[in-house]
Amino acid sequence: MVTGGAGFIGSHLVDGLLNAGTEHVTVVDTFFLGSEANLRTAGRRSTGTLSIYREDAGDHVLMSEILDIEKPEVVFNLATKALLYSFLNPSGACQVNLSIALTLCELLRKGASTAWCTCPVPRSTAPRAMCRWTRITRCWPRPPTRPGRRQRISPWHRTFGCSIWTWSRSVPSTTTGHARTKGCSAAVVPLTIKRILANEQPVVEGDGTQTRDLIYVEDTVRALVAAATTPEARGLTMNVASGIETRIGDLVERICKVMGWTGGIRTDDRRRADVHRHMADVALASAMLGELSTTSLDEGLERTVDWYRRQGSEA
Ligand SMILES: NC(=O)c1ccc[n+]([C@@H]2O[C@H](COP(=O)([O-])OP(=O)(O)OC[C@H]3O[C@@H](n4cnc5c(N)ncnc54)[C@H](O)[C@@H]3O)[C@@H](O)[C@H]2O)c1
Repeated sequence: MVTGGAGFIGSHLVDGLLNAGTEHVTVVDTFFLGSEANLRTAGRRSTGTLSIYREDAGDHVLMSEILDIEKPEVVFNLATKALLYSFLNPSGACQVNLSIALTLCELLRKGASTAWCTCPVPRSTAPRAMCRWTRITRCWPRPPTRPGRRQRISPWHRTFGCSIWTWSRSVPSTTTGHARTKGCSAAVVPLTIKRILANEQPVVEGDGTQTRDLIYVEDTVRALVAAATTPEARGLTMNVASGIETRIGDLVERICKVMGWTGGIRTDDRRRADVHRHMADVALASAMLGELSTTSLDEGLERTVDWYRRQGSEA
């Protein structure tokens, strides 16, 4: 099961799981930001391979019923109202993201499924044997939800012995790759590509020295699937990232180069909540899951640009 499976990483994960021979994948997504078009490739497979629920992963009753019907082996939680939405509606983002986490925690506590979904907290005491669910990935709009998340999730670990996994900040890092993204929630890579395709100047917010640890989406997916199929990974927190810092200014210049854009770059105000540096320590994840970032930044950008070019105005 992939919650948020119609979104960017989620839809690539659905394709990755099916390509790897998974018999059946269930998607739960409100389609708030996700798109049916992102699931088009998966939907072309034989009947019965993919179930799609246009539902809220934070609805306890519904999720309990869906889990009962689908009985997934693994739940990957990628449903979120992500970072950029939290700038528009911080309390709404908090509420949605927490309700999804609480729903999954409660279903974990009640043993509603044989799936494992990740949520481990302190590694030293996490009773791994009880970890039927291990949450594979989720990240939060960092500024508003970080404190709330920790306070609310830790009792499931402390009191009930559930293995709760909190991702560190940079997980799963900034992911490059293609997807149909809606409006203001698009990130720097698709925004830059789309601007250039529309013959508009790309934009760098701030002085461009802010850095991100970039990883190509198919590498992210491979790591998530590897984590789900590596028993020793249960209960651990791992950074799915490249371990390489890239300046946003350089990233935009590289996209311009890949696309042959010579019309200059516009600068805009820095986003106030922007994190200045991102670089993940990938030692644990690499040791556990193998090499993470096998696609170079330029190769990932070329593939992404190529995809947007082929989609034209549909993207
Ligand atoms: N894309 C990145 O670069 C990046 C970087 C770091 C962390 N992450 C994290 O990875 C996860 C997936 O990110 P993404 O880029 O694929 O985001 P996305 O916005 O493309 O996908 C999230 C999906 O969740 C769906 N959704 C929202 N609320 C829902 C709800 N209540 N119930 C069910 N579905 C709901 C949306 O419709 C969307 O399809 C998120 O937790 C995000 O914070 C992503």
